[in-house]
Amino acid sequence: MTFDLEKIVRPKIFNLEPYRCARDDFTEGILLDANENAYGPTQHGMEQSVLHRYPDPHQLQFKTAIAEYRNRSSTFTADECTRPLTSGNICLGVGSDESIDAIIRATCVPAREKILVLPPTYSMYSVCAKINDVEVVTCPLITEDNSFQMDSDKVLDILNNDQEIKLLFITSPGNPTGAQIETARIEKVLQNWDRGLVVVDEAYVDFCGGSTAPLVTKYQNLVTLQTLSKSFGLAGIRLGMTFASEDLARILNAMKAPYNISAVTSDYALKAVQHHNLELMEQNAALMNKEKIRLLDALTQINCVDDHYVGGLDANFILIRINKGDNELAKKIYLNLATKCGVVIRFRGTELGCAGCLRVTVGTPKENNVLIQQFKEIIEELTK
Ligand SMILES: Cc1ncc(COP(=O)(O)O)c(C=O)c1O
Repeated sequence: MTFDLEKIVRPKIFNLEPYRCARDDFTEGILLDANENAYGPTQHGMEQSVLHRYPDPHQLQFKTAIAEYRNRSSTFTADECTRPLTSGNICLGVGSDESIDAIIRATCVPAREKILVLPPTYSMYSVCAKINDVEVVTCPLITEDNSFQMDSDKVLDILNNDQEIKLLFITSPGNPTGAQIETARIEKVLQNWDRGLVVVDEAYVDFCGGSTAPLVTKYQNLVTLQTLSKSFGLAGIRLGMTFASEDLARILNAMKAPYNISAVTSDYALKAVQHHNLELMEQNAALMNKEKIRLLDALTQINCVDDHYVGGLDANFILIRINKGDNELAKKIYLNLATKCGVVIRFRGTELGCAGCLRVTVGTPKENNVLIQQFKEIIEELTK
């Protein structure tokens, strides 16, 4: 394997000089360099805030804290990773959705190059690819055995026979499948394909552990995406993290808008990675995992719900199947729950291998009790 980042990143991007401002060199004193409004925000009650200043473009404190956390909670031994993650391995985005778009723009030449996705999967990869005029190739996950694992050999076959594919997107744990992709399968692809990047989207990883992020110091062709939207409960602040080799992280940082992470986001994000809040995040994830099993047990006992979940239980949601794949009834349940009971779940029956499937996010115990009760009543009504 001879990985050459210069051949993977678009030439204009590879040589991009990042935007620089005076604040990169001086952050204190009488700041008259950035055309801000020194009179402060006009809103009443905000006189003491610093929101009239541009935010920190580098976010080193947050990056260092999250890198250390991922090192600490790594399931890989020191010799499996070449060295620990540092802030230099990270680029931050406005949610992982911005990170997905950035990695496509960094690597794929519009109207010529392609990405590979593994359905059923998160739809934003295809949406971003289409917006960027990048073709989407697909290779289904293994659905026959309900594992929803990646078929590494098939994936490698496609990747090694199509020179135009620059990115492989793996969702792990999957959405809507909830199944974490086995690391050995990911490493097999990493070790046998060097013409592009393997992007592992780990939006839900804190519900199962085993993040691949520490491996970016070992594999230059690995990119791991994470977010504060799920386990950290901060979807509203929009913060996504891209872990990559230092060379690639540098390029992604050069590409991003300098002030993409707002001061408000930065404030919340820094609090989220304080030691006691990380502990709280882990406790909450454990609680949701427990509640997930209770919810699953209750729902699968209901008439018309298949007794085994679909995919895995590695995220903060479950995927259940109605009557061995009855899309008509599943859709009716979904619509009735929303319109008659004000309980909104997601119909996923048109996704590959998910006929008759409903995806249910784990709520609070009280919310779950309402859902379980209403679910029973709606099914009774629809099937009488
Ligand atoms: C697999 C996956 N990746 C990324 C995201 C988006 O994350 P963010 O809120 O950070 O944009 C989601 C949201 O549902 C998701 O399911």
